[in-house]
Amino acid sequence: MTIRVLTGVTTTGIPHLGNYAGAIRPAIRTSQQSDVDAFFFMADYHALIKCDDPERVAVSRRAIAATWIACGLDVNKVTFYRQSDIPEIPELAWMLSCVTGKGLMNRAHAYKASVDKNEQSGVEPDDGVTMGLFSYPVLMAADILMFNAHKVPVGRDQVQHLEMARDIAKSFNHQYGRGRDIFVLPQVQVEEDVALLPGLDGRKMSKSYDNTIPLFEGGQKALKSAIARIVTDSKGPGEAKNPDDSHLMALYQAFSTREQSQAFRQQLLDGLGWGEAKQALYEQLENLIAPMRERYESLMARPQDIEELLQVGARKARSYATPFIHELKAAVGLRDPLTATGTAPDAKARKARFVNFRDSDGTFRFRLMDADGQELFLSCSYADPKQAGAVIKALQSAAPAEVLSEQDGRLFVLWQDQRVAELDTSDRQALELALATFRDE
Ligand code: TRP
Repeated sequence: MTIRVLTGVTTTGIPHLGNYAGAIRPAIRTSQQSDVDAFFFMADYHALIKCDDPERVAVSRRAIAATWIACGLDVNKVTFYRQSDIPEIPELAWMLSCVTGKGLMNRAHAYKASVDKNEQSGVEPDDGVTMGLFSYPVLMAADILMFNAHKVPVGRDQVQHLEMARDIAKSFNHQYGRGRDIFVLPQVQVEEDVALLPGLDGRKMSKSYDNTIPLFEGGQKALKSAIARIVTDSKGPGEAKNPDDSHLMALYQAFSTREQSQAFRQQLLDGLGWGEAKQALYEQLENLIAPMRERYESLMARPQDIEELLQVGARKARSYATPFIHELKAAVGLRDPLTATGTAPDAKARKARFVNFRDSDGTFRFRLMDADGQELFLSCSYADPKQAGAVIKALQSAAPAEVLSEQDGRLFVLWQDQRVAELDTSDRQALELALATFRDE
């Protein structure tokens, strides 16, 4: 069975090394497993709760998207999208609000912290608390339940929100499920073995402590200067250092093999100077980061490419969300007046379509989506977008027999004797149906 793993990142900042080690790297590793269907998204509606600076939200969305892709996220395997591109999420959030007790929200840690602070400073308990902050957990539940995620990897501070998402799902199932579970109950996953990465001063690396090491921002120079600011004890070169009491060691360890960190530990015991130790850490990190930084910079220079990838992601996500929201609306009594069954009113109007995009390696590819928005195939790569366009055009006008060929149980889409894509022969009917829509036009 494939498990659906979903997680989101609030778009208020620029990723640093701690985000990479604690969230990005483990999430990308998880997404590479063959039995995982990963949904990763940018929680940009959540960003509005914490940040009222439009420019910062805009920059952060782009930087986070580019960072994840540069770090190796495979957008063809993972559904990678922006929350605000999926209108079904806020729609669902409203429906969930209507089964969520206010008392449950009163208990949310983030809200309670604001109230406590207000009480201490002698102002109204809800001073400065927006409805956005108060209902933050409902929107987060909608993010998760919209896609029926099984597992949600998050930081420890989000565990309560996951419990609330389960409570909300149970309420909805109970109220509207008529004995059936409409929503999967999501499980929280706190990465136990990802130790919190220490920052420059040894406390958890976090923007709020101003102790971060940048991942890509500022390039090599900023990386080097941050490492130079790592706090150490005052032992001089030649004096034995205690590796267990050094966050420089912990940082090194997070980015090296067991052998490398063993050797480094021994060097510290043998009296390696802190200056040299910092140089070694810098080299280790620069080796890891340099190729990713290069991809990051080239993506950031072409925002349109990021945009196209996110649009593909949004379409993939909505191919799930759109039919599901119709089902959910029907369950609460908001049946579509035209169909009465609650299925999508535009079912007839929807058509198969080709979606082209630029891949992370700079080549051009396209997908054929069926009328339900499900992918039928992903094409091979073309160096030139015109080439890809010409193939699409040819496929739209060809008769199935001209472009389809079967061999050893596989179905090939061909154009001028070149393989464009490969499918299972059992998909033939669906494929012919989709291709037929273009010829009828
Ligand atoms: N609240 C999460 C955080 O601050 C971000 C987030 C929003 C999220 N929606 C989510 C995480 C859904 C997991 C699932 O880290």
